[in-house]
Amino acid sequence: MNLIVGDGDLSFSLNFARGMQMRLICTVFEDDEASLVAVYPTAAENLQSLRELHPRVDVIFGVDATKIPLRLNADIVFDRIIFNFPQTVPSERKHRKVQYQRELLENFFRACSSPAVLTEMGIVQVALLAGQGGMDIEGSYKRPRDADSWKIVENAARVGFIVMDAPLFSACHNPVGFRGTEESFKLEGSRYYECRQAGGVGMPQLEPPRFAFVLSFWADDGWLSSEGKFLESVAALGEEEKIDIRLTLAEGDYIDPATGKRARKYKIDMCAGSRTALSRAKAVGLLERVKDHAVAIEGGERRG
Ligand SMILES: C[S@@+](CC[C@H](N)C(=O)[O-])C[C@H]1O[C@@H](n2cnc3c(N)ncnc32)[C@H](O)[C@@H]1O
Repeated sequence: MNLIVGDGDLSFSLNFARGMQMRLICTVFEDDEASLVAVYPTAAENLQSLRELHPRVDVIFGVDATKIPLRLNADIVFDRIIFNFPQTVPSERKHRKVQYQRELLENFFRACSSPAVLTEMGIVQVALLAGQGGMDIEGSYKRPRDADSWKIVENAARVGFIVMDAPLFSACHNPVGFRGTEESFKLEGSRYYECRQAGGVGMPQLEPPRFAFVLSFWADDGWLSSEGKFLESVAALGEEEKIDIRLTLAEGDYIDPATGKRARKYKIDMCAGSRTALSRAKAVGLLERVKDHAVAIEGGERRG
């Protein structure tokens, strides 16, 4: 069973429904037909055509993609949930501001993460305009500053999803912006991001997230003689979490001129396993656990 959310004038739903025999639930954020048609005049005709496909196809109004179960039957679990070109509504001042779009994405993924909403191997499909995803696969469309993208990998990872694939968006679709307030948008270079819950045996993720940190702590001579234990415990931590954690010793220890204490310094590179979700917050949490392992060895002490 498929679910489409936030479908604007329902043109995508109509094309999808015509090309597929599975049951489909098409939803829009707008509360009723009148308010939908007021924003998207082309919706009236699409709605009529979709209604002709009932009972295989249902249209439901007033569905918030961040609270999916609220308006849908509790006993429906979906194989695929699609949100094309999500964007917060213009009446809320937050429209366009990138952090609000990221929040919308994260909260949408959170709503999909319930086993009452998405099957274990179910797919969440999000379409984004050229450069919005923030992934390397976007090539020359990738925005130079990470801060300008919607960070799909990070927002999916925060609630345990990974991005498996990101093909160019090719659906027969009439993209609609918010009629009356802005032009419709260009699809060139846009992609749809196929995501699923981390773990399991499905396709590996396309670009496993990576993070780099610097770790520094006080270590006396006794600690240095047990350094092997520290390296082993970090390797075990990486294995347990399915994250590749590499430590590179920085050149030359720092010696505090006042106390004579030695500070050991490592560069830490973390790379998520092929089916592991890794958000920045999780990576920072792991860094703390690596520090705990360092100071658990006698002669080690936190620095600052
Ligand atoms: C840029 S339009 C894209 C519309 C349509 N998906 C398309 O591809 O043409 C963004 C859509 O997201 C919807 N939207 C915004 N916030 C939403 C939410 N919390 N839940 C569901 N839809 C939402 C809006 O109603 C609007 O139709």
